Amino acid sequence: MDFPPRRDADGTACVIAEGDLVIVYETFESVGYTYAKAGDIHNSKFGAFHHKDIIGKPFGSKVYSRCSRGYVHVLLPTPELWSQVLRHRTQIVQTLDIAMINFHLHLKPGSVVLESGTGSGSLSTSIARTIAPTGRLHTFEFNQHRADVGTEEFERNRLADIITLECRDVCVAGFPDLLDGTADAVFLDLPSPWLAVAHAAKAMKPDARFCSYSPCMEQVQRTCLALEELGFHSIRTVEARLKTYEPKRVQMDVPRFEPKVGVAARGLRTRSYGRQAQKEGATGISQEAAAASSSAAGADEGGGAAAAGEAVVKEEDKAPPASTECGAGQEETEGRGTKREREGGTDEQQGEAQEQEEQEEATREADPVPVVQLCARSYPSMRGHTAFLTFATSPIAGEAGAGGGAASEPSGGGAASEPSGGGADVGDGSSSAAKGE
Ligand SMILES: C[S@@+](CC[C@H](N)C(=O)[O-])C[C@H]1O[C@@H](n2cnc3c(N)ncnc32)[C@H](O)[C@@H]1O
Repeated sequence: MDFPPRRDADGTACVIAEGDLVIVYETFESVGYTYAKAGDIHNSKFGAFHHKDIIGKPFGSKVYSRCSRGYVHVLLPTPELWSQVLRHRTQIVQTLDIAMINFHLHLKPGSVVLESGTGSGSLSTSIARTIAPTGRLHTFEFNQHRADVGTEEFERNRLADIITLECRDVCVAGFPDLLDGTADAVFLDLPSPWLAVAHAAKAMKPDARFCSYSPCMEQVQRTCLALEELGFHSIRTVEARLKTYEPKRVQMDVPRFEPKVGVAARGLRTRSYGRQAQKEGATGISQEAAAASSSAAGADEGGGAAAAGEAVVKEEDKAPPASTECGAGQEETEGRGTKREREGGTDEQQGEAQEQEEQEEATREADPVPVVQLCARSYPSMRGHTAFLTFATSPIAGEAGAGGGAASEPSGGGAASEPSGGGADVGDGSSSAAKGE
């Protein structure tokens, strides 16, 4: 939107004038709007903001309350902000879907777009910015009150050069004949969009883009059938879901992962098993069990097992060479067994002391370290389903489908046709058009 423009021709920031729409930004969660009018006061929990203090200030200024220490920022309106603050007269199309619609309708400056219904004008405002300054949006709303409020709002928001709003039931009366063959794009947000598809086809240029926004799959199915019957191609339905992430500094307890510690800890564990085996051997417990436990320790460690075994062998370098048929764990156990046989009980005492020392060291080193990191944290909830967006491309001249332009309700009893894709099956209107991707 950016009406009025952000900068004057000489590059100075645009100042707020009488009658301008101004977005009043209080906090992240509290944003409102007002129309600047000398003598008016914008009241909120942050204070009383006299419009006299706002008029003449550049958009983006910080304005202080006269009766408290509160302040607000007065921002230039954009479609994004307007969709956030507008008064809801209906459900509105939200940011993510608006982005998809603008993109997939191939909108650009100069596009001619038809829309129905207008509702609260959320989408209309965004379309207007995209197609400005030479494009035109013709929007149709059958509720008289909404049509009146919408017309007044588009005027106040300085969009009347781009948007015209007419009170009309497009499912019954269709679009005005004057618009036949003029539309680059048509957007429908109606309870029964399939009833307006033939009218849309009549108003569209060949190879123009179509979108229908429906919350229920049954509506999507009927719309797809109507599109297919009329020879539309590249029919595709998408559903967009929004998940917001926020950068935040959080403290996490991170374990130490230095390779030295890892090797030491693994070696230690292997040694522990070995020493346990020693103890068991000394007290007459099965040495086979000790050997098994030791080699299991090696196997457990995967790639680290060899390193663990190596560390032990190095430390106990007096051990005789192990059998080449044995794994690392077995080597170690056999080595120990031999040493024990050679050196007897004093080694056990020394071993216990050393083991205790090593365990203390490992515990110290394994303590997690509190680290503060900048993370992308998602908001706890993901905004759920709003609607399905069905896109299609109008048939090129002479390739209209069997429906032939009549606003016929498609037959076919609700079975979901698979939307066609990639431009295949254009034009014959038969069900083959539904067998794309
Ligand atoms: C969900 S609202 C549209 C909201 C709009 N897209 C927005 O972003 O603010 C649907 C509107 O379509 C209007 N409507 C329903 N059937 C209609 C018809 N046959 N012709 C014209 N408008 C219709 C309703 O009155 C309602 O205001």
